[in-house]
Amino acid sequence: MDADWWRQAVVYQIYPRSFADANGDGIGDLAGIISRIGYLEQLGVDAVWLSPFYPSALADGGYDVDDYRDVDPRIGTLEQFDALVAALHEAGIWLIVDIVPNHSSNRHRWFQEALASAPGSPARDRYIFRDGLGAGGSRPPSDWTSQFGGPAWTRVPDGQWYFHTFTVEQPELNWDNPEVRAEFLDTLRFWADRGVDGFRVDVAARLAKKFPEPMPSQAELSRIPSGPDSPVYDRDEVQSIYAEWRRVFNEYDPPRMAVAEVWVNSPERRARYARPESLGQAFNFDLLKADFDAEQFRRIVTSNLDQVKLSESSSTWVLSNHDVVRHATRYGLRPDGGRPGGRGDRWVNDGAPASQIDRGLGLRRARAATLVELALPGSAYLYQGEELGLGEVTGIPDEQRQDPKFWRTRDDERPSVGRDGCRVPLPWTRSGPSFGFGPDDSAAGPHLPQPDWFADCSVEAESGDPSSTLGMYRRALELRREMQGGETLEWDDGLSVGDVLAFSRPGGWLCVANFGDDPVPLPSGRVLVSSAPLIRPGTDGPARIPGACTVWLSIDAGR
Ligand code: NOJ
Ligand code: CA
Repeated sequence: MDADWWRQAVVYQIYPRSFADANGDGIGDLAGIISRIGYLEQLGVDAVWLSPFYPSALADGGYDVDDYRDVDPRIGTLEQFDALVAALHEAGIWLIVDIVPNHSSNRHRWFQEALASAPGSPARDRYIFRDGLGAGGSRPPSDWTSQFGGPAWTRVPDGQWYFHTFTVEQPELNWDNPEVRAEFLDTLRFWADRGVDGFRVDVAARLAKKFPEPMPSQAELSRIPSGPDSPVYDRDEVQSIYAEWRRVFNEYDPPRMAVAEVWVNSPERRARYARPESLGQAFNFDLLKADFDAEQFRRIVTSNLDQVKLSESSSTWVLSNHDVVRHATRYGLRPDGGRPGGRGDRWVNDGAPASQIDRGLGLRRARAATLVELALPGSAYLYQGEELGLGEVTGIPDEQRQDPKFWRTRDDERPSVGRDGCRVPLPWTRSGPSFGFGPDDSAAGPHLPQPDWFADCSVEAESGDPSSTLGMYRRALELRREMQGGETLEWDDGLSVGDVLAFSRPGGWLCVANFGDDPVPLPSGRVLVSSAPLIRPGTDGPARIPGACTVWLSIDAGR
């Protein structure tokens, strides 16, 4: 089997609780995914990345894992998991699962044991417990804050404190502890033995920690760059963990792949995770953070393709995932709202009202950006629903919010939007109580509310229409399969002027993207796919590419 299958794969991320609900309890499940494999096949993806499906109290959307070797009973069973692996493989689709090694949930048997054991006990040593400061240790060991708001230390009844970068329910594991290391190696084998082809490694840069005494303040910590001197992020020793993991991955045929979720800016440091002796691939979130802008895209593509030379890996490209505002919405923020086509983060944090979103413009740009992404060498990670052109769901009532980030980073002056808006259950049909997410006679509605406009973005509404966003994705993935060759790209400097980016790939495949507002001439060649209708000449004049549009051309026969 092809050991390099992942290098230029299109990977489709499934957030399982929101993909398809087979039994009508309002929560997506494994049986639902199995029932939609035909859809994934027709879409033409190479692999599925399944976000956490493990037993969890959902304090953080499943990234609070109670048991790393089981399936949440609301989502399915291990037998159904095996059936899913078999059915995906039968369809020629690889499976990557999420692994969450930085923290367990507070309901994990190890954490329960730690709570029931004395300070200094082996059970406590699997986590990061410390005595507090001041009289009776009543102050936390440091003033560090959690990424979801509030303190990063929580006190247990006997007076000690435990450390958590994320929610209170996500106590952080101690990776200096050999038992923790051994347990995860066995967990990786557990899933690899069941046929899992790869792992997406959550918060991959945070596992190794070294807290200096005395502890720096939060203000001091924020000033320490990530890397060897940071107490918490991207320390050198983290690589020794992944060297052990790699040995396990290489026990299999083909070797299991892994992709690191790292938010490291330095190319050299990021490359360490993508090296063949480490995880093998690392996410690059640069496009996801960029504006819809030719110059930014060119800079990012160039630098990331340079960076892969440092790691021998392939590049990764991401425009949307379960943690950010969907790109069809990010690109549609009205300039008059003061956030011209800006980054999701800014929008999330500023809580821009829905009235500032131009959905038409956002979708147009999203489709254009997607065709650029899919023409690039390396692997593309797609997020469920982007192939339907789904935008962010705004205005979810507070009482239906689930994301801890929404609640914990909220204050009245800058209300947070949180991450629920990109996790709303998918619309499969035009009508019905949950747009086909669950059976029409479901006992429960979808676990997050769907807006009316989902009807027009449903699979049913788009399926028969080649000009729909779904039609565009299907066509692009089909072409990509046919045309994908070497992992190189050549800029066409003659065409890449102003707001236009143009590059060719081996085999006569040319991608031309117009990031501006005004039409530009269409170069010669056979049009393969276009993200928007081209402007055809009337009686004379050449065809033109409208603003915010990308075209792929075959230039086989020369231009
Ligand atoms: C990154 C995941 O993508 C996010 O959803 C989660 O909240 C954090 N890691 C913590 O596990
Ligand atoms: Ca269900």
